[in-house]
This record gives sequence, structure tokens and C-alpha cells, in this order.
Amino acid sequence: MMYSKILGTGSFLPEKILTNFDLEKMVDTTNEWIIERTGIKQRHIAGTHENAATMADTAGRNALAAAGLEPADIGMIIVTSTTPQLVFPSTACLLQARYGISGCPAFDLNASACAGFMYGLSIADQYIRNGTIKNALVIGSEVMSRIVDWNDRSTCVLFGDGAGAVLLGASEEPGILSTHLHADGNYKDVLYLPLATSQSPTFETVKMMGNQLFKLAVNILGDLFDETLAANQLEKSAIDWLIPHQANIRIIEAMAKKLNLPLDRVALTLANQGNTSSASIPLALDLAVRAGQIKRGQLLLMEGFGGGLAWGSALVRY
Ligand code: UT7
Repeated sequence: MMYSKILGTGSFLPEKILTNFDLEKMVDTTNEWIIERTGIKQRHIAGTHENAATMADTAGRNALAAAGLEPADIGMIIVTSTTPQLVFPSTACLLQARYGISGCPAFDLNASACAGFMYGLSIADQYIRNGTIKNALVIGSEVMSRIVDWNDRSTCVLFGDGAGAVLLGASEEPGILSTHLHADGNYKDVLYLPLATSQSPTFETVKMMGNQLFKLAVNILGDLFDETLAANQLEKSAIDWLIPHQANIRIIEAMAKKLNLPLDRVALTLANQGNTSSASIPLALDLAVRAGQIKRGQLLLMEGFGGGLAWGSALVRY
């Protein structure tokens, strides 16, 4: 039996930080409102010299180094970005050139933003388990600051920039135990980003029905946990860590409660990074691994959801 295992993780955060107090000067909001309703205190913002490819580059190199591998060992690159530098070539192809390699498949994956990393992880897992490739680099890299309306207080306080990467490799020991992906296009208006047009040639900005999305998220994630545990014939008590998409602390708390997990068993980056869309799960994973919190052999439940709607989970023996 062949598995794909997480051999290394990496991440990158831009240096510039935007605090809730900075936002108080930009829109009609308060530090207290943002903390109470979302759990966010600050977020990182990419500089003009940074983009999805530069951030993915560093995150990917850190994951390679953690795995003890070289760029030449990579058998597939998947970048789950909805904020690429170019529409094409893909950020994954730009990365290939930056790493000085060629030949392996490289592509960007847009699973409607925030759920992207779960989709990328699942695809890489299939290719490794069926023996087509040995190693895959899966990276979420997002420059959300370039697609939010900085005059809209209901969205601009939520998002941040960053990248997170996972190097997956073939292993006879259990790694990814199962992945579960879903989507429902009937909810397209709940969270979307229109294309730029000739009338508005710059980026359009994110539109969100926050309250509806909040309620949908709590329901679909609860069902997703049940599905993931049932597929592995496990009880929730088996889970060591929840690695959630970082959208809102109230959603995360509800999910931890559903699993009977204390918050110190949840990888949390929301307060310092805000919502980095498809980068948030690998970022949270990498920081918890590097802090020595997540240890080899532990059982991780990862979940992501976002526009589409699209959502997914992975149960992983780290
Ligand atoms: O990664 C993609 C997934 N995204 C999500 O999952 C987001 C899910 N949704 C949420 O996290 C929450 O719905 C929000 C944080 C976006 C909003 O929190 P809420 O508790 O659902 O607030 P609300 O939208 O119901 O708005 C409550 C009030 C409104 O004022 P009125 O109508 O009651 O007078 C808003 O205008 O809060 C107001 N408001 C703000 N006030 C101060 C909205 N944004 C702000 C703000 N500062 N930044």
C-alpha cells in the first residue's frame, strides 16, 4: 500500500503589517469590533516587490529544505492561488523557472479561492498513491490585499497576504489517509470576484455575503467532519490537531467544539495573519510544525471552505 506523506512544510509572510488600529484610520471600524467578530488583530501585506510567485518561491524552498530535497526531486507543482501575478503562465510555471527545473507538470488550481489547498493536496495525493510521481510541491500563495476594496469595512478587515507549502512524497507508512472534496455552485453569489473588464481594467474586488457564508460554513464543516471520520472508521477522540481554514475565530471555535478539541489543539494563525485564503491551511500547519507543537505520528484533520461554494478536508497521519 502506497501513501503520500508530508515530508516538509514551509511558509512565507511579507514584512509589512497592517493592524486593526491602522484600519481604524482607513474605514469606519474599531479594533474591538474586528477582534470580537473575527478574532483578527493584524495581517501581513505584500510590498510592491512581492507577488504570488515570489511568496510561493520562499515557502516552497522552505518546504524542500525541511524535507531534505532539491528542486530536481519535484515531480509536480501545484499552486492554489486566485491572486496570481499573471493569468498565464501559471504561478506554478513561474516557480519552475525560478527553481531552475523543467519537465514536470506544473499548474495553478482555482477551487474558488479558500478551499484551493484542500483540492491541491487531494490531487497531488492521487498522483503519488497511483505511482505516477514520487514527490509533489503543493503551495497556497495569495495576495488578497490586491483584490479587496480598501473602502469596504465588511471585507477589508478580514484578509491578509502570505504563502504556505507542503512537500508530499511517496511512503509505505501512512500519511494522507483520505481526502474529501465538495462544491455547490448554487451559492455563487455568497462570495465572488468579478473579472476585470475593458471598462474596469484593474482588478475587481471581493464581494461577500458574510453572514450567510458564516452559517453555511458551520453546517457544511460539521457534515464534512462526520464524513471524514466515518470514512476512516474513527471517533473524533482520535484527532490530535485541527488545522482549519482561518476565516473567523467563531467558526473555528464552533468546529473545535464539535470535535471536543480544546483550542490549544487547533493550529491558529488568524489573530496575526487574518484570512490568507488558500494559503491559510499550509501556513497554519507550517507554523505549528516549526513551533514544535505538531509532532510526527499525530493525526491531523485539515478543512477548508470558500467561494463556489467549495469545501474539502484531509485526514493526515503527520
Ligand atoms: O475565506 C472565505 C470564507 N469567509 C468567511 O467564512 C467569512 C464568514 N463570515 C464572517 O466571518 C462574518 O460574517 C463577518 C466577520 C464577515 C461579519 O460578522 P457578522 O457578525 O456576520 O456581522 P454582520 O455582517 O451581520 O454585520 C453586523 C454589523 C452590521 O451593522 P448593522 O447593519 O447591524 O448596523 C455591519 O454593517 O456590523 C457592521 N460591520 C462592521 N462594523 C464595524 C460590518 N463590518 C464592520 C466593521 N467594523 N469592519
